[in-house]
Amino acid sequence: MRSLYNHPKYYDLAFSYRNITSEVDTIEKCIKIYSKVPVQTVLELGCGSCPHMLEIVKRGYTYVGIDINPRMIQYSLEKAYNHQDKVKLVQASMVDFELDHQVDFVCTMLGSLYVQNTEQLISHFHSVSKILKSGGLYFLDWCVDFSPLTDVSDYWTTEDSLLNIFTEVNYRLRLHNIVEQLYTETVDVKVTENGRVRKFRESHLRRAIYPQEFVLASTKLSPFELVGWWNNWNLNKPLTGKERNVRPMILLRRL
Ligand SMILES: C[S@@+](CC[C@H](N)C(=O)[O-])C[C@H]1O[C@@H](n2cnc3c(N)ncnc32)[C@H](O)[C@@H]1O
Repeated sequence: MRSLYNHPKYYDLAFSYRNITSEVDTIEKCIKIYSKVPVQTVLELGCGSCPHMLEIVKRGYTYVGIDINPRMIQYSLEKAYNHQDKVKLVQASMVDFELDHQVDFVCTMLGSLYVQNTEQLISHFHSVSKILKSGGLYFLDWCVDFSPLTDVSDYWTTEDSLLNIFTEVNYRLRLHNIVEQLYTETVDVKVTENGRVRKFRESHLRRAIYPQEFVLASTKLSPFELVGWWNNWNLNKPLTGKERNVRPMILLRRL
């Protein structure tokens, strides 16, 4: 089956249920309340098709994106065609990367913290700590597993009526190895475009990251402090452990 990440246009549509303007509003609120440095440059890790990029640039920031997939980078470069002075996209791995300049804010969206073991997690924090200015924030969307590792399934549809494209998305998590805390994440997307049907799949092994080991790796083994974690991108809803969590957001600050 074709790789979904090699077809960014369909990835973009399959995950287009987000309210990007409102999400960038929340990011700006976090910056206003918690950042100890003024923010000019935003770095997104695992940026993919860069759904937030144009909104971020529109608000005056410079955007830097890192992704491992060259097709995602090419697609996002085309999206940024009219903003080339404010956008830089780099093909690299979030596990171990370097940039020429430090940045003021880092984010990883939609659970895109892709690591397969503890060494990669520590290496990831090491790379972020080198490029993020002291006092700057690292914002993570859904990158910590606040629920036990059980099998999960989800289904949704999206539509672009102008382009006449309809997608049906099946999302699955399956436990792979409990000792290694590995699970398989699979996204199947059926695309109907002008009556033609095509199927895409993305499937990866990922290491689950539980709350207290996230705190250990980021704040005891790496130079960050935990600012807080909240449910569903809502700064009025700090996570207590009692709620059903949906897209929790986590905020670290570089010491
Ligand atoms: C779920 S998509 C998220 C894209 C985008 N951030 C968003 O919010 O829609 C995950 C992205 O992470 C990228 N990715 C996976 N492993 C990576 C790695 N080790 N380093 C950098 N990017 C990676 C994939 O190529 C893909 O574009």
